[in-house]
Amino acid sequence: MFELPAVFEGVMTTGATAANVLGAMTARQYAGSLQGIDVAKAGCKDLDCTVFSATPHASMVKALGLAGFGQDTWVKVACQSGTEAMDTQELASKLSECTSRGKVVIASAATVTGTDFDDLLTVAQLCREHQAWLHVDGAFGIFERLVKGAAGKTQGIELADSITLDCHKWLNVPYDCGVFLTRHPQTLFETCNVDAPYLANDDQARPFMSLGIENSRRFRALPVWATLLAYGKQGIKAQIQRNIAQASALANWIAASSEYELLKPCSLNVVLFSASASNKYDTQSLLAQLNEAGQVFMTPGIWQGSAAIRCAFSNWRTEQADVELAILELARLAEGA
Ligand SMILES: Cc1ncc(COP(=O)(O)O)c(C=O)c1O
Repeated sequence: MFELPAVFEGVMTTGATAANVLGAMTARQYAGSLQGIDVAKAGCKDLDCTVFSATPHASMVKALGLAGFGQDTWVKVACQSGTEAMDTQELASKLSECTSRGKVVIASAATVTGTDFDDLLTVAQLCREHQAWLHVDGAFGIFERLVKGAAGKTQGIELADSITLDCHKWLNVPYDCGVFLTRHPQTLFETCNVDAPYLANDDQARPFMSLGIENSRRFRALPVWATLLAYGKQGIKAQIQRNIAQASALANWIAASSEYELLKPCSLNVVLFSASASNKYDTQSLLAQLNEAGQVFMTPGIWQGSAAIRCAFSNWRTEQADVELAILELARLAEGA
C-alpha cells in the first residue's frame, strides 16, 4: 500500500502510542548494540545516547519516558520558520557536535497541528552519516503516500529504521490498531524476546510473541485485512482524497471570511484557523461554543504560540454536507447568533 521496501517487518500494536514505544525501545537496543550493551538484558544504566526531534507527537514524548530516555531529556531541533518541520541544517550541526556514542532522531510525518512533514530524505541521509537510528512517526501522515506516491511528502520514509502508523486513523478501522515497522527485525526481536518452557513457541527464528510488547493479543490484523479487501488501495485512496478536498473547501471559505483567519494554507486534512480581529469572540470561546452546539466537533491547537482551532478530516463518513454544516455553524457564530 505504501510502496515500502519489503525489508520492513513489524507487528500490529494497540495504536500509534504503542508503536512509538516500540520505536523508542528498539532504537535504544540498537544504540546499545553500538556500545557493546544488550540493553534488553543489561538495562540502560551505562547507555550513552542522545535523542533529537523537532516537533514530536505527545505520545512520542510519552514513549521516550517509558523507554527510559526521559520525557524531558531529548534535544530540541529548531523548526523551519513558520512551520513545525525540522530545520535539517540545525540537525546536521547538532549531530556533528554530539559526542554521545548512540544517537536517535525522531521525525514527524506529519505533525498534528500544522500537518508539516520533516524532510525525511535529508534527515535519513544525516542519520546514516552519523549512525543515528531514525524513527518516523507517520501515524496518519503516511497515508499521504497513497495520494502523492513515493515522491510526495513522505519521500525518504523508506530509509527509516522504524516507522509508526495507525490503521485506526485514515484506514478507519476500529480503535486499537496501530502498526510498528522496522528494517531491523532482529533488533526488535532482541528488544522483546520472551521465552519460557510453557509458552507454545513455534520453530520460527523470530516467534511472533517476541516481536512486540504483548505476549497474548487479539487478531488486530482482521479488520485491516477486511478493509483492504472491501475497498482496495484505490478505494482507500479515494476516501483520503475526499477528506483532503473537504478540508480544502473549508479552508477556502475561512480564507475568504473576515471573521476568521486561516493560519496556514491547508495542505492535507487539517484546517488551522483562529478568530480574526473583527470577530466578537476570541478563538477559545468560539471553539467552546462551536462544540457546545453539538453539530460539529473541532479541537484546540497552539500555532506559533497562539490559540488555534484544528478542524481535522479523517472519517470515511464525512461528506460535503458536513463541510457545509461546519460553514453554517461558523457563519452563525460570526453573526453572534
Ligand atoms: C502523529 C501521531 N502520533 C501518535 C498518535 C497517537 O496515536 P494513538 O492514539 O493511536 O496511540 C497520534 C494520534 O493522534 C498522532 O497523530
